[in-house]
Amino acid sequence: MKLSKITVNKSLSNIVVLISGSGSNLQSIIDNANDIGINIECVISNKVDAFGLNRAKKAGIATQFIDHTQFKTREDFDQKLIQHINTINPELVILAGFMRILSTDFINAFAGKILNIHPALLPKYKGLNTHQRAIDAGEKFAGATVHFVTNELDSGEIILQQSVPIQSIDTAESLAKKVLAQEHLLYPKAIKKVLGLR
Ligand code: GRF
Repeated sequence: MKLSKITVNKSLSNIVVLISGSGSNLQSIIDNANDIGINIECVISNKVDAFGLNRAKKAGIATQFIDHTQFKTREDFDQKLIQHINTINPELVILAGFMRILSTDFINAFAGKILNIHPALLPKYKGLNTHQRAIDAGEKFAGATVHFVTNELDSGEIILQQSVPIQSIDTAESLAKKVLAQEHLLYPKAIKKVLGLR
């Protein structure tokens, strides 16, 4: 009997990534895109010199620079972002070091589809300077959290977390390096988990 070859038609999920800086998390998502089952349709930055834009270009991904300083209000800038992202109609909008607070309009436009990575074990240490605050508080562990984005800063449903022990010799800088290395493992896993749930 001749067996016909079965081909599994696994379609890729389109995603958009928003960045403002180095984009090392973006790089990890690029490197793991096949395994996650995603196609990165576009990388958008609000900073023209964000190194992540170079990473995207090198990987052959479309890039878009949208300068927030050119808009009168946060809402105007977010409308421009919404318009651009709507042309792509992605399954997920991934924030990877995007240093802008998003308006309610933006969050409602992509409700349940926006993910962020935060360098702390949420709900502890929302906002900035997470590592120094964790050290100052005498915490035994720091870490990273991937969560859904809602209107309340760093407060949406947690998808995955990874802890990192704080050593007595750790500084905010040394801890940031160790946590970032874990972020690179965590974000691809979290995206895969969310897409698997759909
Ligand atoms: C990461 O520490 C992430 O947790 C935070 O911003 C940083 C982005 O780093 N949201 P990179 O641009 O991905 O290198």
